[in-house]
Amino acid sequence: VNAEAPLNLAEYEAAAAALVPKAAFDYVAGGAGDEVTLRENRAAFDRWRVLPRVLTGAGEPRLATSVLGTEASMPVLVAPSAFHKLVHPDGELASAGAARRAGIVYTMSTAASYPIEAVAPRAGAWWFQLYVYRDRAITRELVARAEAAGASALVVTVDTPIVGRREADERNRFSLPFGVTFANFDRPEQREMPANAEGSGLATYVQFESVLRWSDLDWLASITRLPVVPKGILAPDDARLALEHGARGIVVSNHGGRQLDSAVAALDALPAIAAAVDGRCELLLDGGVRRGVDVLKALALGARAVTIGRPIHWGLAVGGEDGLVRLLELLRAEIALALQLSGLDDVAQVTRSLVLPTGPLSA
Ligand SMILES: Cc1cc2nc3c(=O)[nH]c(=O)nc-3n(C[C@H](O)[C@H](O)[C@H](O)COP(=O)(O)O)c2cc1C
Repeated sequence: VNAEAPLNLAEYEAAAAALVPKAAFDYVAGGAGDEVTLRENRAAFDRWRVLPRVLTGAGEPRLATSVLGTEASMPVLVAPSAFHKLVHPDGELASAGAARRAGIVYTMSTAASYPIEAVAPRAGAWWFQLYVYRDRAITRELVARAEAAGASALVVTVDTPIVGRREADERNRFSLPFGVTFANFDRPEQREMPANAEGSGLATYVQFESVLRWSDLDWLASITRLPVVPKGILAPDDARLALEHGARGIVVSNHGGRQLDSAVAALDALPAIAAAVDGRCELLLDGGVRRGVDVLKALALGARAVTIGRPIHWGLAVGGEDGLVRLLELLRAEIALALQLSGLDDVAQVTRSLVLPTGPLSA
């Protein structure tokens, strides 16, 4: 693969694999357990086919949309992911800058390796992803800092009361290299991830609240003026409960197969969640989005937009901010191509009838 000019996201992954230290690459690439869910996230997309229409008069593709009221140049957001410095020294400064240049919403992780106040000025519109800390004062402080720095939504990760068992990290005795920290914190307990001679260093970071309840979502909605968006919902009943507890959007996600292995593929959960929510809030989908046509499938099945996780690290690894801009522009071109070849010229025209399960059409 030519690292200068990967043709698609999979080639970015291959190029990144050659550039990033093995333990860091495995941390990004890996999933929990046997990685059934990790594979299934991808496989779920391949179970759907597109039914293109012809002679529709579709012209220049328009990809612009809005997500929770924020304008975006395409229905793709940067998913929150930890420690961008693991793959490039500019870390989140570069990923936020790339999102701004691509005109898309950036989601900043609680576990970023640069602090909120340093990253926010590089981003355009951005959301903050919150891990609820055991210490509620710390949690409040994070929310207040995100608000003060200009976040326009609070994405609350609800699928990580404890960290899933990622065996690659265990085998690699994964730990953070010198200079990479939970940069949002000052105190060593929250800032450092101690090495673990027995396995993954992540297992030693026991700062997250391990007992989360719906009342915690109510509490968060009560302490912020930002729209609260739970991330990591798969059950339609949980989507209904989320609405009752103040959710203004929902991220349908299994954390990229990194938490409960054998959890249902995110795309497989989407249609039933869309039915349960019935238009009462916008849905985002993540897990396995790697091609422009995947984005159209997710929109057809009920998502307002998708978010991408691992590919952010690949773009950064290959070329920092410029590398990630190139990756996002590749994805944008793929979405435009798929849209036009489907006989449509606006992402707003994508409906359920665009896709059908693989197999013969019914007569
Ligand atoms: C290296 C890595 C770090 C992640 N860190 C976080 C995080 O800090 N907070 C969070 O809510 N999700 C985190 N995620 C999950 C992503 O937000 C997202 O759900 C997932 O990556 C989507 O799947 P994809 O990688 O197939 O696109 C992380 C994912 C990866 C790969």
